[in-house]
Amino acid sequence: QAAPPAPAPAGAKQNRLDLSLRLRRNRKAEWSRRLVRENTLSAADLIWPIFLSEGENLREPIPSLPGVERLSIDEAVRAAAEAAELGIPAIALFPNTDPALRDEKASEALNPDNLVCRALHAIKKEIPQLGLITDVALDPYTSHGHDGLLRGEEILNDETVIVLVEQALNQARAGADIIAPSDMMDGRVGAIRAALDAHGFEAVQILSYAAKYASAFYGPFRDAIGTNAILVGDKRTYQMDPANSDEALREVAQDIEEGADIVMVKPGLPYLDVIFRVKDHFGLPTFAYQVSGEYAMIMAAANNGWIDGDKAMLESLLAFKRAGADAVLTYFAPRAAKKLKELA
Ligand code: PBG
Repeated sequence: QAAPPAPAPAGAKQNRLDLSLRLRRNRKAEWSRRLVRENTLSAADLIWPIFLSEGENLREPIPSLPGVERLSIDEAVRAAAEAAELGIPAIALFPNTDPALRDEKASEALNPDNLVCRALHAIKKEIPQLGLITDVALDPYTSHGHDGLLRGEEILNDETVIVLVEQALNQARAGADIIAPSDMMDGRVGAIRAALDAHGFEAVQILSYAAKYASAFYGPFRDAIGTNAILVGDKRTYQMDPANSDEALREVAQDIEEGADIVMVKPGLPYLDVIFRVKDHFGLPTFAYQVSGEYAMIMAAANNGWIDGDKAMLESLLAFKRAGADAVLTYFAPRAAKKLKELA
């Protein structure tokens, strides 16, 4: 039989729970919340992806990426200066290649005067202290929009890696600080590392898109670089199946063994579990890409007045830090850096 409830001790107020642990105590005021905060977000955590276009004084809006524009090289130099001023450590460059220059073999990827190489030279000259990241993959340059060479319906692996190595060297010669293979061919990290070293680029880092999923969230990016309309089929024979996460650890393990300095998980928010596992398991620098579709979703809801855009932006970026990411590629980079300055 249950004991009758003990009489309230003298002096105890009525209707009070007898709790020794009240987790709300630490949340009672802003100063206390700041003291116990486990993770923080700063401009140093951000990488700004920038789309390039031919022309001068040109800022071309991208309808599916509200607030993001394709920039001519002179405008990209201005953006790079802004990034440095805001304390953003690095930017990543993505070209919208003239359709006339796209072909089956992605020849333009190897042109030392292509849009990305010219932008690298121009930005390095003006803002030498800013880190410059370039994507290694053939999709901005192929007439079919795939990241590799196509034979029939097959994306060729080893033949593609030969071209990727040349593309990486082309970018390193133009001043890229970090080479970021995003193509998901097997063996490309090792081949690129060997070629960089053989040509005196030992200091050039490799950020491998190690766990990159075949995702529906890349749509607006493909609008931005002009591949959405031309892409034949999909990328499921080389990008990962969204159902898998053990496989992500195998991809990362292989890239580390081949010489990756930093690994990336992509997309971001829907794959926080993968970021957590990768960081937890390997403990090496781990980046996340908050991809175009994730950005577009937040912007669409915010522009409709359905969510607070600034708050959703900062909360989503902090979530990456909590999951274990060391830095985040995000189209929000300049806006987030400004907002963080304002709040500081
Ligand atoms: C291409 C590449 C893609 C992105 C970065 N590099 C798209 C794709 O794989 O089709 C997507 C980035 C984004 O959606 O913001 N190699």
